[in-house]
Amino acid sequence: MHPLDPLKSTEVRTAVEVVRAQSGLDETAWFETITLDEPDKAELAAARDGRAPIRRAYVCCYEPSSNRTMRGIVRLDDGELANWEHVEGAQARIVPDEFVLGDEIVKADPRFVEACAKRGITDLEKVLIETWAAGNFGDEAERGERIAFCHCWVSNEAGDNPYGRPIANLHPVVDLRLRKIIRIDDFGVVPLPPDSASIRPTENLRTDIKPLEITQPEGPSFEVDGYGVKWQNWHVRVGYNLREGLVLHEIGYEDKGRLRPIMHRASMAEMVVPYGDPTGGNFRRNAFDTGEYGIGPVLDSLKLGCDCLGHIHYFDVCAHDWHGEPYEIKNAVCMHEEDFGLLWKHTDARTGKMRAVRSRRLVISALSTIGNYVYGFFWYFYQDGTIGVEIKATGIPFPTGIAPDKESEYGTIVAPGIESHVHQHVFSFRFDMCVDGEANSVREVEFEAAPVGPENPHGNAIRIIDRELESELQAQRETDSARARYWKIVNPKAKNGLGKPTAYKLVPAANTLPLLDPQSPVAKRAGFMFKHFWATQYAPDELYPAGDFPNQSAGGDGLPAWTAADRPLSETDVVTWYTLNFHHLPRPEDWPVQPVVYANFHWMPDGFFDENPALDVPPNDLK
Ligand code: CO
Repeated sequence: MHPLDPLKSTEVRTAVEVVRAQSGLDETAWFETITLDEPDKAELAAARDGRAPIRRAYVCCYEPSSNRTMRGIVRLDDGELANWEHVEGAQARIVPDEFVLGDEIVKADPRFVEACAKRGITDLEKVLIETWAAGNFGDEAERGERIAFCHCWVSNEAGDNPYGRPIANLHPVVDLRLRKIIRIDDFGVVPLPPDSASIRPTENLRTDIKPLEITQPEGPSFEVDGYGVKWQNWHVRVGYNLREGLVLHEIGYEDKGRLRPIMHRASMAEMVVPYGDPTGGNFRRNAFDTGEYGIGPVLDSLKLGCDCLGHIHYFDVCAHDWHGEPYEIKNAVCMHEEDFGLLWKHTDARTGKMRAVRSRRLVISALSTIGNYVYGFFWYFYQDGTIGVEIKATGIPFPTGIAPDKESEYGTIVAPGIESHVHQHVFSFRFDMCVDGEANSVREVEFEAAPVGPENPHGNAIRIIDRELESELQAQRETDSARARYWKIVNPKAKNGLGKPTAYKLVPAANTLPLLDPQSPVAKRAGFMFKHFWATQYAPDELYPAGDFPNQSAGGDGLPAWTAADRPLSETDVVTWYTLNFHHLPRPEDWPVQPVVYANFHWMPDGFFDENPALDVPPNDLK
């Protein structure tokens, strides 16, 4: 087993036994997280030298009787519990079992039954209640308690869209610790929308689609050893974390027989989806899907021919429920090759000789279903050294009800009586960089038109501005497409064949900034989203840009707090963070289920190689 392999079910069980026996928690306690506590870089180096791998589990528990969130490390080799601590003021994430619990609590309360009756809803079987994280809006009745703010829907007649008929303005507020409703926020009856269309119609389907088959008669071009992968000079390890879901480790490129490191670890480390409707209880909708709920437990079990096409290698992972009982997610991570059109081409116009090389990419992906929404996390490796990162967003845009005579002020009417509000999906990616080694520096490159003068008489000069970002405060940056701005992680000591430092650059694509008051509660809890680019000096406990415990936090944790130290970034172990903000005003075409929306960016070699590294890809015209 490799030290970075995800925990197996036997290890999850061991961790549970150790915590139950040694933590002193009572029987009400449940398990928020049991996941691999990753070995640090020194330990990994030791493991490479053949010394025994170290296996540890990070465990976080919540004890309702004392309202405490506790965490520590289980040493799996000798069954010892280490660093067990009460995290003062923290609330554990809301786990999937609490969605089930919340639904039961709310439906058993006569106040909720009455509120439904007022709306003509009597069949509670068809009602869906979701126990969303409440955020922190300074409400005294909620302070220090484990609160969920609920949203409610009635299923459509077809029974295939539980979000099909939103119950507007009805929000039970639940104490998940004491297992009771503390109040119902009812902002007034809005008529239920008419029945919503089926999202799985079986009639009038298109009949003009001929089969399209992907065959690889000699098998795929990748090699897999456990969770380790080799493909077209690329080396990468697939990992899994209960909070982040898919994680990639030890990304490197084999260049002339030498494995050159690029990233030590890469993941989507946090996300938040603030909605822009201030009326009723809708200001509460700010889902931190990673930090408040967790992506790992809700990865889809993927299906060949549906989610994935071609010759697939699947990786299984192990999640757990709140009792600590492990469950396998089969086919949680998909890996395959895709034809990607043209890689490069040149035609000599005089001789007519042509060379065309087709591009192929390795895709490593996982999909997570989080309530109404589906997020796909796609990592692409290309033959020219480029790494692509892409989010695919689909599922059901969050719907709410609107009276038939009203216009939607902060959203779109997507179907009769249903509106969907403007929102932003803001992702924070974390990259622990190691371009040709640990000692990296950060640079920003941008361009501007030089003024006309003796040196630039025709006004065509484009100035290249390439400067070092020397410390954490300097390295808090925004994209600027008018200046074609990007960022480079360089190794000043490693020189390419042209005598210049080797580098990888982060190339942004479409992006935007939060449209929130910076003093609003959600802005304070997700300070990372106000900058697109951050760089920090590596610290092992700095993993989550909104802090370790964003659920009900008052804010200020994570990147804004760490970077206040303004640590230097020159020739050090650099971690970069990229904020990708996908702004979304839903369209009628996004209902009843949304065609995939793509948001992406790339890492490209920039002087990492001496020339086009894909010259050796065999051209197709030779075949
Ligand atoms: Co959206």
